[in-house]
Formats: sequence, C-alpha cells, structure tokens
Amino acid sequence: MKTLRLALAAALTSCLALLPLAAAGPAAGAEGRAADGDRPLRRLAADDRLRIGTAVDTTALADDAAYRRLTGSEFSTVTAENVMKWEALEPRRGEYDYAAADRLTRYAERHGQKVRGHVLVWHSQLPSWLTTGDFDAQELRAILRRHITDTVRHFKGRIWQWDVVNEAFNEDGTLRDSIWLRKLGPGYIADAFRWARRADPHALLFYNDYNTEWTGPKSDAVLDLMSRLRAEGVPVDGVGFQGHLGIQYGLPTDMAANFARFEKLGLRTAVTEADVRMVLPADEAKLRTQAEGYRLLLDACLRTRHCLSFTVWGFTDRYSWVPDTFEGQGAANILDEDYRPKPAYRALQAALAGRARPAAAE
Ligand code: G3I
Repeated sequence: MKTLRLALAAALTSCLALLPLAAAGPAAGAEGRAADGDRPLRRLAADDRLRIGTAVDTTALADDAAYRRLTGSEFSTVTAENVMKWEALEPRRGEYDYAAADRLTRYAERHGQKVRGHVLVWHSQLPSWLTTGDFDAQELRAILRRHITDTVRHFKGRIWQWDVVNEAFNEDGTLRDSIWLRKLGPGYIADAFRWARRADPHALLFYNDYNTEWTGPKSDAVLDLMSRLRAEGVPVDGVGFQGHLGIQYGLPTDMAANFARFEKLGLRTAVTEADVRMVLPADEAKLRTQAEGYRLLLDACLRTRHCLSFTVWGFTDRYSWVPDTFEGQGAANILDEDYRPKPAYRALQAALAGRARPAAAE
C-alpha cells in the first residue's frame, strides 16, 4: 500500500512538473501568461541543445511545492546552491554528510536533469576545523586531495560538470589570497583538476569565476591560466562565467567575443550563476534593463558554439542571496516573489524561441 502511495505521489509530481509556468505559482495570474501559451525554458532551449539550469535552495525544494514544481518544469540542469560546498559536505574532518546533496541528485534524475557540481575548491564556506586547523602545507594538501577524491567519487557518474576551482582570482588578475594559495602555492589549481579527473574520468571539469564575462584584467588572467593548464596537459574542460550582473554598473557588451577566446583554447563554456540585481525599489525601467542583462548573457552563450548550459542563480526573488549580501539591492531573478514572470523571463523565452543556433553544442 505504501509503495502504491509513493508511486502515485511520484506520478503526480511528474505531472505537476509539466504544468506551464502560468499555472504554477499561487499568484500567477493573467499577467503571467504568454499570448501564445507558455513553453518552459528547458523545452525552448532543447531545440538549441542548450541546457537551462538553476541553482537550487534545497530547503525551498523540500518545503515549497510551487518552487519544487517550477524547478522541475523550467530547467534541465540544477546546481546545489549550498549543499555541495565543503562546510556542508564535510562538517567534521573525514565525516561526510551527503544526504541533502543526494536528495537533490535524486530529484534531478527523476526530472531528467543533469547536475552541475558546485564546488570543490573555494576560499569560502569552508568548515571551521579546516580554517582554524593551522595545518602545514603537506597536511593541507592531503586534506584537499582527500576531500576532492572522496566527494567526486561519491557522486561519480551523477555529475555532468564540476566547478573544480572557484573564484581563484582578484579583480586585477592576481591570484586571490586564500588558505590554498598561501599554504600550497598556485600549483593547487592544477592538482585539484588532476585529482578530480582521477576520481571521475567522465565529469566535465570547470574553472568558475565572476566578473570574467567581459574582457579585462581578470578574464585575461583566467584565459592565461587556462592556456597554460591546457599546454601542460592539466585536465580542465571548461570555464564557467557566473554572470552576477548589477544594472547600476551598466551592462557588458563584449561577452560573446570574450567567451569565444576561451573556446579557441578548446574549452567548453557555460553561464553558471546568472542574476541581474538592481538598487531597490524596482520599477518598470529597471526591470527592462534587467531583462536586457539576462538577454545579453544568454545571447553570449548562444553565440558560443560550445556553451553547454545557461544557469540562473535561483529563479525567484522569493529566495535570493542578493538582499543579504548587498544592502538595498535585490529583485535579481527572473520570477518575482510570487512566481510571476518578470520581463527577464520573457526575454529568455523570446531569445530561445526566436533563433536557430548556428552550430551544435556538444
Ligand atoms: O549554514 C548556515 C545555517 O546553519 C544557518 O542557520 C543560516 C542562518 O542564516 O545560515 C547558513 O549559512 C548561510 C549559507 O548561505 C547557507 O544557507 C550563510 O549565512 C550565507 O552567507 C550563505 O550564502 C551563500 C553564499 O554563496 C556564501 O558565500 C548563498 O546562499 C549562495 O547563493 C552564494 O553562492 C555563491 C556561489 O557559491 C559562488 N559564486 C557567488 C555566489 C553568490 O555569492
């Protein structure tokens, strides 16, 4: 009986996942409906062989039915917003807690989604045993190697793209001062990729960063590093451009050209964390500019032959990291707090519907 109930619940969930956006949210009303009927982003992008993704707040996924439904219906790849970070996975040395991350990968499998693994090596969200441990270089290297190996092995075969190293650069193109650089030197980056490859030879291994979407000292430095790593045979497969924009800074215009420089090295690319924030309150003009920001990011990806996925960093203003980090800013996502589509959502839909990609992505 219990099995039957679970099977019925699963069937219902997958039916609900196919509901169009207009029927999804509690307040999604007439203004949320496209004239020609809504086609979910994931379906529109399938024509371009592009995966559309979102970062997932796993608490919302568990507690909020509308959020859960839209995560499944709109997106074809998911990224754990927090639950695959070191502090979440290995809160005590050598003791792993994969439960929340495993729940997300199971959700993804049920919904035909691929998973971006985020993140193996970063300076942030590290557990305190690691940051206060005062380990010497040899021990810290062993700790890093073990975390990468254990984690990648645990998820082996279930992760499409891993963000192996995240945000290793400063804005001026120098390497960021972190526990890794200080104690292990710049070689930690190549080591991380080699260890990850050994643990899962089939996952695509990415370097991921922000403010690298346009040309400038930071993206030049990442390009230079990628070029050196490729020349040395280090197994790096792709570069992720996070895509955290703010309309108050103006919108970047040379992103497609920048992505193309990386592709020339034989790398895949991806937009990994798109959101476009603004100084609150939002108004129509700001929302229009925001929509243009999203459109430009997607366009850069669509113009780049091997841009594999376009991921938004959350899809609703109901759950967003922005207001907690930038005081007075927010409204950064493509749906509002009540899951109503904003101009940004419509811009993504239109961009995906109205084009044929010049060449297929892998
Ligand atoms: O884990 C604690 C929890 O125990 C506690 O109850 C709760 C109370 O506030 O806080 C929890 O930690 C929060 C964590 O998210 C998990 O929810 C932190 O305070 C909060 O600072 C943290 O923020 C995350 C941030 O990374 C940390 O740097 C955001 O949700 C997440 O969206 C953001 O994501 C990053 C990417 O990983 C890398 N690129 C930039 C992007 C935006 O900052």
